[in-house]
Parts: sequence; C-alpha cells; structure tokens
Amino acid sequence: MASHRRRNHYYNRFRSVLPLISAVSGVLLILFGLLSFLAPTPIDTNNPHHKTMLDTTNDVVEDTIGKPGEPVVHIPKKGRKDRDVWSSRNSKYFYGCSNASNKFPNADAITHPNRYLLIATSGGLNQQRTGITDAVVAARILNATLVVPKLDQKSFWKDSSDFSEIFDVDWYISSLRNDVKIIKSLPRRRGKTWIPRNMRVPRKCSERCYQNRVLPVLLKRHAIQLTKFDYRLANKLDTQLQKLRCRVNYHALKFTNPILRMGEKLVHRMRMKSKHFIALHLR
Ligand SMILES: *[C@@H]1O[C@H](CO)[C@@H](O)[C@H](O)[C@H]1NC(C)=O
Ligand SMILES: *[C@@H]1O[C@H](CO)[C@@H](O)[C@H](O)[C@H]1NC(C)=O
Repeated sequence: MASHRRRNHYYNRFRSVLPLISAVSGVLLILFGLLSFLAPTPIDTNNPHHKTMLDTTNDVVEDTIGKPGEPVVHIPKKGRKDRDVWSSRNSKYFYGCSNASNKFPNADAITHPNRYLLIATSGGLNQQRTGITDAVVAARILNATLVVPKLDQKSFWKDSSDFSEIFDVDWYISSLRNDVKIIKSLPRRRGKTWIPRNMRVPRKCSERCYQNRVLPVLLKRHAIQLTKFDYRLANKLDTQLQKLRCRVNYHALKFTNPILRMGEKLVHRMRMKSKHFIALHLR
C-alpha cells in the first residue's frame, strides 16, 4: 500500500515537470534549427578563388552500380564553380618540413666505425618500401652504417629484382649522406666474407627497444642483419627521426629511369583516354 502511494507520488511529480521538459526541448530544437540555418555549408569554406577543374559540362553522371537502370549516386560532373577539389582554403600556408633542424648532428659526427646494420625486407613492394625507409632511421638510432637493404625475392611476387634495379641507389646513398652513412655491401673481415648475425625485432619497436635489444648484440658482433623487416619501427618517434623518415620516403627513394619511363608512358596513354583518374590500392 505504502509503495503504491510512493509510486503515485513520483508519477505526480513527473507530471508536474512535464511541461518544463517540453519547453526546454522546444527551445533546444529552435536553437539547433537556427544554428544549422546560420552555419555555412562545408563547401563554402573552400577557397573561392581557385577555378574548378571539373568545369567541363553541365551533365550529371549517373552511376548505376545498383539495380540496372536505377541511379544510385549522382555525381555532378560540373561541381561548384568556386571549388577546386585539389585545393583548400589553407593550402597556401602548407610547406614542406622534412628538412633536418640545424641541431641534428651530421652522420660523420655520430656514426661508430664498427657498427654495421643490414636489412632484409619482406612482403610486397609497398611493404618493402616501408622497411627500406625505416632501415635508415634504425641505423640512425644505432649510430651505425647502413648497408643498402636487401629486397625480398622470395615473397608472393617472386620478383628477382634487387634494390638498384628498382631504386636509384646512388641517389639514395648521396641524398642521405648527412643523415646516415650508407654503403653498398658489407666490407670483408680479416680477408673473409663477413657473415652478419641475424636477428628479428618485434613489430613497432621503439627507439628504446632498439637500444635495449639490438645495440648490445651490435656492440658484440659489429654487424647485424634484421630479418623480415616490415613495420619494425614504432609509428611514434622523436620529431627529428620522423622527419628523417619523410626525407627517405619522399626524397631519397626514386625509381630508376626505366621504371620512370614506363610510368610516363602509361600516364601518357591514360591521358589520351580521359582527363581524370583515381588510384585505388586494392588488397
Ligand atoms: C630543404 O632543404 C633543401 C635542400 O637542402 C632546400 O633546397 C630547401 O629549400 C629546404 N626547404 C625548406 C622548407 O627549408
Ligand atoms: C648515438 O650518438 C649520439 C650522439 O653522440 C648519442 O647521444 C647516442 O646515445 C648514441 N646512441 C647509440 C645507440 O649509440
């Protein structure tokens, strides 16, 4: 009986605040409506001074991926006159920042004479490229001389190309000379071929992880080959090392001339067919 009365009591209190709740919700709704009315559309935040590249016709391209004959996505071929898909309002403030700061010591000052790092990459070319880039940073962390990385010739692709057939190896070495000393092959030791010690570091190994796991072995054996080297360096690094990563990936790695020529030929052929393309990385 008592509990019934209490429930009744709560119900009555709820009824008395009901108008208040509806009033507050109403005000919120009006505010929201006003805000969405006043806010600019996202498109307006783009620089209106750039002329659009998608400015050819007024047509609407109808994509019929769904049921045949039933348009699914409407892509206005024309776009808005004031919008260039390749630029944004802030793009004039962007600048390259991969150059080393002047506090970043030169490779000559930090490279220890008796430390050699070899790298055996792994996977498809994209994955191997990550390894090649991170190899330079790993050598820098260890103050070691890097031997030009070995490509994975046994992977799924069974591509027998070596580094110098894909990338311009002299450019790789010379453009990074201030950052890391790079040589083409491990020197001989006491007149004999020097077999490095193989080891594998965990994925996403940090700077400290290299110092703790690899450095002691390197100090003892003087030449180490890190195997299956893909994504073996942490994503989060000291800014100067992160910039080095960018210098390798965006400046030091250039395809060889035959590959560049083949690329140009393909682009030329594609351009004869259409103006716009997108690239998809399928996996
Ligand atoms: C970075 O360094 C290169 C080569 O030393 C130089 O040409 C370029 O102007 C520099 N870029 C910036 C943004 O300082
Ligand atoms: C590499 O050299 C720098 C500068 O001399 C030093 O601070 C750092 O501890 C060295 N690191 C290793 C792993 O030898």
